[in-house]
Amino acid sequence: MVSTSLLTAIIAALPLALASPIRDMEARDEPGANAALAARAAPRFITGPWQNFPAISTWGTFDQMFEANKNSMRSTGSTWDDIGRINVAIRDAATLGVDERVILGIIMQESHGDVGVRTTTSPDGGATAGLMQCTGCPGFPGRHGLSQAEITSMVRGGTQHYKQNLVNWGNKWSGESIYPALREYNSGSVNVNNLSDGRGATPSYVSDIAQRFTGWVD
Ligand SMILES: *[C@@H]1O[C@H](CO)[C@@H](O)[C@H](O)[C@H]1NC(C)=O
Repeated sequence: MVSTSLLTAIIAALPLALASPIRDMEARDEPGANAALAARAAPRFITGPWQNFPAISTWGTFDQMFEANKNSMRSTGSTWDDIGRINVAIRDAATLGVDERVILGIIMQESHGDVGVRTTTSPDGGATAGLMQCTGCPGFPGRHGLSQAEITSMVRGGTQHYKQNLVNWGNKWSGESIYPALREYNSGSVNVNNLSDGRGATPSYVSDIAQRFTGWVD
């Protein structure tokens, strides 16, 4: 995490829209510990089955989504070079067979693009690390100005995890697979009748990421 004084300096330098409280470190691992880091709620809380979530045809392009999220990533202390390398890493990891926008959505949900995000501990005792906060993934807590190889390792690791979830849900290039897989990524299991049933993790996880696809930025 950035130091308080640095954070204050960053916040002072940001436009008001970006300056609101500490970002939501995705709280699946330690809901209690993270309660103070209040999640910023997306405009809507979408619930129910996958059909209730925005279809791919309504999403913006990857370039639009990345451009819209750059300042938010920068506000974490990641450098512009880090951010450029995240873009390269996403395009690389997408060759595993995952839409670039989904990878970016998970990154924004889990770490806001902070390449130096802390490593957290999941309820089963495993460490979840890096930009996509995944088990067994590399992490570089407190560091910025990373190499392309370091950033790519975090994004590849998380994308491999998500790809397995996608396969578990039919591996379709459609919300039918993408949204349940996001719930599995967060919770480890899925209530198909309600993808906002957090099953002990973050209820709004899929809903928040879905709204990132259609332009919401926090
Ligand atoms: C889905 O679960 C959430 C979280 O528990 C709840 O608020 C919502 O009402 C549920 N929606 C449906 C359609 O069951």
